[in-house]
Amino acid sequence: MTALHTLSNPVAATISPDALRATARRRGQLKGRQPDDAAREQVRALIGPGPHRRDRLIELLHLLNDAHRGLHEAHLVALAAELRLSMAEVFEVASFYHHFQILGDGDRAPDITVRVCDGLSCAMAGAQALLDKLPAILGREVRVIPAPCVGRCEQAPVAVVGQAPVLRADTATVQSACAEGTVQHPAARVDAVFDPAASAPCAITRSLEDVSPATVGYPAYRARGGYALAAAVVNGEEDTEAVLKAMKDSGLRGLGGAGFPAGRKWRIVRDQPAPRLMAVNIDEGEPGTFKDRTYLERDAHRFLEGLLIAAQVVGIASVYVYLRDEYHGARAILQQALAELVADPPCPLPAIELRRGAGAYICGEESAMIESIEGKRGEPRLRPPYIAQVGLFGRPTLEHNFETLYWVRDIVQRGPAWFSGFGRHGRKGLRSFSVSGRVREPGVKLVPAGITLRELVNEYCGGMAEGHTLYGYLPGGASGGILPARMADVPLDFDTLQPHGSFIGSAAVVVLGQHDRARDAALNAMRFFEHESCGQCTPCRVGTGKAATLMEADVWDAGTLDDLATVMIDASICGLGQAAPNPMRSVMKYFAHEVEGAK
Ligand SMILES: Cc1cc2nc3c(=O)[nH]c(=O)nc-3n(C[C@H](O)[C@H](O)[C@H](O)COP(=O)(O)O)c2cc1C
Ligand code: SF4
Ligand code: FES
Repeated sequence: MTALHTLSNPVAATISPDALRATARRRGQLKGRQPDDAAREQVRALIGPGPHRRDRLIELLHLLNDAHRGLHEAHLVALAAELRLSMAEVFEVASFYHHFQILGDGDRAPDITVRVCDGLSCAMAGAQALLDKLPAILGREVRVIPAPCVGRCEQAPVAVVGQAPVLRADTATVQSACAEGTVQHPAARVDAVFDPAASAPCAITRSLEDVSPATVGYPAYRARGGYALAAAVVNGEEDTEAVLKAMKDSGLRGLGGAGFPAGRKWRIVRDQPAPRLMAVNIDEGEPGTFKDRTYLERDAHRFLEGLLIAAQVVGIASVYVYLRDEYHGARAILQQALAELVADPPCPLPAIELRRGAGAYICGEESAMIESIEGKRGEPRLRPPYIAQVGLFGRPTLEHNFETLYWVRDIVQRGPAWFSGFGRHGRKGLRSFSVSGRVREPGVKLVPAGITLRELVNEYCGGMAEGHTLYGYLPGGASGGILPARMADVPLDFDTLQPHGSFIGSAAVVVLGQHDRARDAALNAMRFFEHESCGQCTPCRVGTGKAATLMEADVWDAGTLDDLATVMIDASICGLGQAAPNPMRSVMKYFAHEVEGAK
């Protein structure tokens, strides 16, 4: 009999609440709603007998969410009991992530969820029309919802049926994907809709084709000398100081957006006390960015080799790889690559654990990612201390973007001068631009750092799309501002765009044509930030929503918007709130004619 049942018993009601609580504790019960036996059995059948680590909470939630197409409250209560956590703890985590749908006791799970990407590139390719038409076509059993960029902008518009992306989607292709999905759970039939061939043409710079050939499996990677460097470093045949020097001399900077020099970060973390941990960032949530997915689908082992080298040089005990949930196909590729590596290791390996995001852009921010790996809400931490000192599970942590690690093998083997030898307009190195929008050939373009937008479009993207002339461009996704066509000759690189109120970030270039409006792009970005704000800081939580409302007006209230921007930049904890005003400010600076009234 539970404490609650006892309370409804008139005899037991004379027992004091303290005595009741003590009795409950003695029996090892948690407070609040108690799990029912059926729910507990269902949960145990999915997650296994335990004991379960607290930090794996999100992984366990995924098991439930996948199997039941949502998180039933009864299952969450049972899960809390299995993990000896309070219900509040489990609910607060489950409710943070967009890919978890909590279902009340009477709620029915939708047969299928269709997420229509309404990120900028998809919006420009007609996402709104899909969102308007699909509910009536697909019927009430299918949940149709908008979703932020799913990392396939070069194939816009994109809809995701269950976990299977439908590329260059129209109502007919989404409908037929759903028809298959009603027979089988979408997760089980991903390959039926996912078309690797459609995602392959990533137009890598012709002269650099040997750097990243088409999809490479484990035997082929090893046959071409793959993992020889990692083995030499791990076995002590290659001097770690020489590796560190190569990293420094190459000038490689973190390719996740912040651009911190990679070699310097390795030294900083290596100098911290052991045990040291590593977190790999494949959250790739910045709208317009799809380079990490593209490289992962083609050459996962090149990345894993970079990971092994970094882990050895920095003295890492365990590695956590955090992959965004949207990359279902890439997750299968990575799981296979890891299994192959473990089955036939070229050298002793560190522990490597693959973690699955759950639909939250903010988890790409490094400290939010660490919280998420610990099984919590993805709320960025206040710094200092920096994660290099106090990171994952309180240990010094090396966090890297996927692509930063992807280049390690080539830099060390080919020599730092190989990497730094590329470059234009005084800049050095290589950059992988994710290009989408009004160009003839969108895709990932591996090009010299410092290239201008005009050169990028004309030399690597086949020019502007038919019927479009250049109007403006976003050089760094939703966060990096918007520049007008007259600034198409500015070198694109870290540090070159700041004087213009802009930055390159993850090098996600979205090209606008003469029929697009910068104000629409800025509003799209602001709504995205409103949706993705973790809500910790009032300026970010409230400011993004308020700004979005103000930006809907024909004529903008520039004074109020500017005040909002200042407060958000000055008083937000993390880069989301600090960068959110960039596109809006760009419009006021470079596209004022779109938002000013008649003079
Ligand atoms: C709001 C926000 C989102 C971010 N999203 C990503 C992301 O999706 N992928 C990524 O690698 N870095 C992202 N970053 C940057 C990370 O915080 C961090 O700088 C990076 O992972 C470090 O790796 P790197 O030095 O190799 O670039 C984001 C930063 C912010 C502020
Ligand atoms: S700035 Fe926004 S996203 Fe970042 S911690 Fe504050 S509320 Fe969260
Ligand atoms: S996939 Fe739709 S905007 Fe990126």
